[in-house]
Amino acid sequence: MKGKICGTGSCVPEQVLDNEELSRMVDTSDAWIRERTGVVRRHIVREETTVSMAVSAARRALENGNVSAEEVELLIVCTFTSEVLLPCAACEVQKRLGAVNAACFDLNAACTGFMFAYNTAQAYIASGLCRTILLIGSESLSHMVDWEDRGTCILFGDGAGAAVLRSAPGEPPVSVMHSDGAAGGALTLQSLHSGELPQRCHGTADLPEKPAGAQNGYIQMNGREVFQFAVKKVPEAIQEVLTLGGTECGQIDYFILHQANKRIVESVAKRLHADAGKFPLNLQEYGNTSSASIPILLDEMHRDGRLRRGQTIVLAGFGAGLSWGASVLEW
Ligand code: UT7
Repeated sequence: MKGKICGTGSCVPEQVLDNEELSRMVDTSDAWIRERTGVVRRHIVREETTVSMAVSAARRALENGNVSAEEVELLIVCTFTSEVLLPCAACEVQKRLGAVNAACFDLNAACTGFMFAYNTAQAYIASGLCRTILLIGSESLSHMVDWEDRGTCILFGDGAGAAVLRSAPGEPPVSVMHSDGAAGGALTLQSLHSGELPQRCHGTADLPEKPAGAQNGYIQMNGREVFQFAVKKVPEAIQEVLTLGGTECGQIDYFILHQANKRIVESVAKRLHADAGKFPLNLQEYGNTSSASIPILLDEMHRDGRLRRGQTIVLAGFGAGLSWGASVLEW
């Protein structure tokens, strides 16, 4: 059996922060951001939270797929920016949806989160453990970026996307997943408590030191390193799934990539010798929404009719870890 996406949904905050406004906050310009990233504006949470956006996106996906909350057997929220750690965001979403029959957990693989969750869902369905699975990517990255660091704050935005998978006859999609923890220093976020020892611990015990280089709870990124990694590893992973699945590059209707930087997407298209028009972009509107970017784009394309049943599409994600992965599937 395989999992077929039968419904999609998304939710982005109302508040918009455009490049002009951002260039009054840090030393940058609309022209620089557009040229180097493709981002024009991003949506930023005000009242919304990671969980509330996840719930809205999930409701829309369930409605779109004509699936009731009670039918969901597994609910995965991909996030590293939830306002709750215990219980996990997925349990909070379950409560608000009334998805009473679902087992729930969060999955943190940063920007590759949705890809890894998609493959996890396929494995649960192929094994017969579950028939109906709800996947959500939801992020409030605006809480995690240093709004004085022009190297990161220009890139990211907030939002959530969701997809419902139902079991259907057929072979699961061909997928690859990779991680390289040794290269992880290029994109990090220290937990806020990592250096702050509670008073009651001060005594004779052998207590952990604050990790070297630990920062103040903001995303730290070597942009060039992440860029180089993405433009090398993403085409490799896509070529890997195409070869494994015996699919020609020309047979692919759409390559739906994590929306991090327009130049990364263009470079991947070029390296694959593929038609750039098959690489849809929406990062100009939302910036990089990490694990939410692929499901938000899927939802847009599903609702505006660009995605049609029977098409062959590639999904590819990459990000902190470092981690990356790709799948080739029939829509
Ligand atoms: O989901 C995965 C997460 N991350 C990514 O995918 C990020 C991948 N990396 C990137 O998207 C790009 O590396 C950035 C957009 C972050 C940066 O673009 P870049 O072309 O790699 O710039 P750079 O870091 O090589 O910097 C080039 C110049 C530098 O000035 P000098 O040293 O040449 O004088 C920077 O100081 O641009 C300067 N710069 C800026 N100037 C205006 C860096 N950020 C800005 C800025 N506005 N926001």
